[in-house]
Amino acid sequence: MSKVDIAVLGYGTVGSGVVEVIATNQENIDRHAGRHINVKYVLDLREFPGDPIEEKLVHDYDIILKDPDVQVVVEVLGGVNPAYTYVKQALLAGKSVATSNKELVAKHGAELLRIAREKNVNFFYEASVGGGIPIIRPLNSSLAAEQIDRVTGILNGTTNYILSKMTMEGLDFNTVLKQAQAKGYAERNPEADVEGYDACRKIAILSSMICRKQVDFEDIYTEGITKITKEDILYARKMKRVIKLLARSWIENGSVFAMVAPFLVAENNPLYSINGVFNAILVHGNMLGSAMFYGRGAGKRPTASAVVADVVDAVRHTGVNVPIEWDEEKIELGAMKTTGGKFFARIPADSLAAAEEAFDGLTVIDAKIAGEIGFITQPLREAEFEEKAAKLPVINRIRLD
Ligand code: HSE
Repeated sequence: MSKVDIAVLGYGTVGSGVVEVIATNQENIDRHAGRHINVKYVLDLREFPGDPIEEKLVHDYDIILKDPDVQVVVEVLGGVNPAYTYVKQALLAGKSVATSNKELVAKHGAELLRIAREKNVNFFYEASVGGGIPIIRPLNSSLAAEQIDRVTGILNGTTNYILSKMTMEGLDFNTVLKQAQAKGYAERNPEADVEGYDACRKIAILSSMICRKQVDFEDIYTEGITKITKEDILYARKMKRVIKLLARSWIENGSVFAMVAPFLVAENNPLYSINGVFNAILVHGNMLGSAMFYGRGAGKRPTASAVVADVVDAVRHTGVNVPIEWDEEKIELGAMKTTGGKFFARIPADSLAAAEEAFDGLTVIDAKIAGEIGFITQPLREAEFEEKAAKLPVINRIRLD
């Protein structure tokens, strides 16, 4: 069996996972690739004395770039820079790239795919959305016969863990966040997760894939979970719903819409039962109907497994570019205020008469919380809801899925 050399950029959680996955499943991986996959270099600024990769460790990226034996570069540094420069240089040097980096893919995916096409190599990014869950390849190949009109995902494990725990134990957001940080389930700086930025980048990637054009993550309306309280959870329970941070992308009247926000999800929705750190992505196509992809959206081994599968695919397609349609042409998203659905709102109890005047056909929800009451509206456009709700002292509002 002939050998193919690869280089791993970054020896953090995912990078060390990539080395571990290859070492553990080497025989199987080689069989799938049809060649022996050899990690020739690991690039990191740090030293790792005593680690088996010590002899492969390099600090200078040029060594990798100039080595013609390196055919695949694994980029697991995270962040846009220097990852973007490194990946671009690798592709231009005729090397395929496998990455788990959602910031990089969301921002520069279309350009990097074009360069890969021009150079007859591949740029693969399965692990950038849903960690170990296959979703990018299914969208690009298994579902290639579909017109995908809706993708709804729980794309962030940290927030799903926090919301699940708030739901099950009736705790407030800050208490659960602190517990999650202590257990290592949440970052010390949790902003990207709890404010929805991480899910936003992931849905930007999926949106770009379903409309085959560039969806800028900056254009996606994004709300996190920091305003969700234990009182909201009590109302959700009363409605037989759960609160989930959903990342959605859909096509409506020919326009593409995307958003990230907490939603009240009903029992009959398959996403209702996705708890803890798990992710799930519900895809709707015009021929297939719905399909759900479920599993571990983060973590060393699941994420590394998806990256290594991309390496295998790149090796299998040496000299052949696998087309992934995602043009650099930017698409303007449909305006949020023109979309809508039902809304749940909480108000002081003595504002109920005013709410009934403002909203036609509301359904009152009483979670027996002193001094306040909740209600569900009829389906409304976002703009209509905002206009009517502005007349009331709304305590919080959450959309219904
Ligand atoms: N912080 C992310 C999560 C990790 O919680 O899902 C995977 O991107």
